[in-house]
Amino acid sequence: MSYDHVPDDGTNPLRRLSLADLRRRTSAKWRAYPPDVLPLWVAEMDVMPAAPVARALTEAVALGDTGYDSGTGYAQALDAFARKRWGWDGVAVERTATVADVMRGSVEMLKLVTGAGDAVVVNPPVYPPFFGFLEHEDRRVVEAPLGPGGRLDTAALEAAFRQAAAGGRRAAYLLCNPHNPTGTVHTRAELAAVAELASAYGIRVVADEIHAPLVLPGAEYVPYLSVPGAEDAFALLSASKAWNLAGLKAAVAVAGPGAADDLARLPEIVGHGPSHFGVLAHTAALRDGGEWLDAVLAGLDENRRLLGELLERHLPGVRYLRPEGTYLAWLDCRALGLGDDPAAVFLERGRVALTGGLPFRTGGAGHVRLNFATSPELLTEGVRRMAAALP
Ligand SMILES: Cc1ncc(COP(=O)(O)O)c(C=O)c1O
Repeated sequence: MSYDHVPDDGTNPLRRLSLADLRRRTSAKWRAYPPDVLPLWVAEMDVMPAAPVARALTEAVALGDTGYDSGTGYAQALDAFARKRWGWDGVAVERTATVADVMRGSVEMLKLVTGAGDAVVVNPPVYPPFFGFLEHEDRRVVEAPLGPGGRLDTAALEAAFRQAAAGGRRAAYLLCNPHNPTGTVHTRAELAAVAELASAYGIRVVADEIHAPLVLPGAEYVPYLSVPGAEDAFALLSASKAWNLAGLKAAVAVAGPGAADDLARLPEIVGHGPSHFGVLAHTAALRDGGEWLDAVLAGLDENRRLLGELLERHLPGVRYLRPEGTYLAWLDCRALGLGDDPAAVFLERGRVALTGGLPFRTGGAGHVRLNFATSPELLTEGVRRMAAALP
């Protein structure tokens, strides 16, 4: 199937591909498990690329434009997108850096403001690579678990900030906004409380906002940098999740006005990370992919509702925290009696691959993360398989 046959006509992009089309893919989602397993795990979407993205890439190939990346086009496209979509004028291009991807970019920002052995606070259950990357960089991970309903817990944050900054050490906080895996979209009041606490304890904040364009109807994305008191923070944004471009690596780091001097110390070599094709794809997505994104968001909203209905009907013991953003559903399966790792049971007996909760650490046991960025038909089949796995 070629993108030429997939017009951006406002119909649901999640419905365009058959299972046979998807099984021909060679990315992680489709190759990590045997072909009888339905994969609803890693954060890839079952969509064709938005036409402007496909066009930018095919034009680059036609031109032989396959060299190194250069310039600030990505940041400029992000700035225009942020103004139009979120009414936010905080992506000051002179305070941005194009980086390899969101995780490498987050690490590079953390390295500007902390050193080896310093603490970084995170909110488990959270995207497992947060732990892997921080530990790889010899940072001490301090947990401030999310509170009820997957919301930020101010008391837990304060305790973690106090512990992280003890002895006058430099410390940071890696915030996930919106939050993976719960799909929580932090409110302005919650983020303002974070900024106040961070200032009080001298904690530097790095906000991973990769899921920002994927906020669903009913919630509003608040850029962390737009909150009073967050001027010395950094944010990482990218078109990667919302336009399904994980294989085309690139992201933008944005420094608040109070972090400009820190960003100026970013080693020049960090700019060698992003791929030119990634930058071309992400730039086209942000510049011209708004309609396609709206169609995806409508499809995800519909799947979010459908998933609730399917679980109620087939797996009433599962607690579904209806996500406000992302295409990830965090399912509390503890009442099913499947032990700490229900994903292993769903895989073994149901032939459906979900992401197990344990690597998300505190709060992850007995949970699974389900990726609902697929067709309603495959989502229905996924829940049917989960139900079939029950004893
Ligand atoms: C919160 C979060 N950050 C980062 C990433 C990875 O992004 P990148 O490939 O740009 O590092 C993901 C991927 O799902 C994610 O959910």
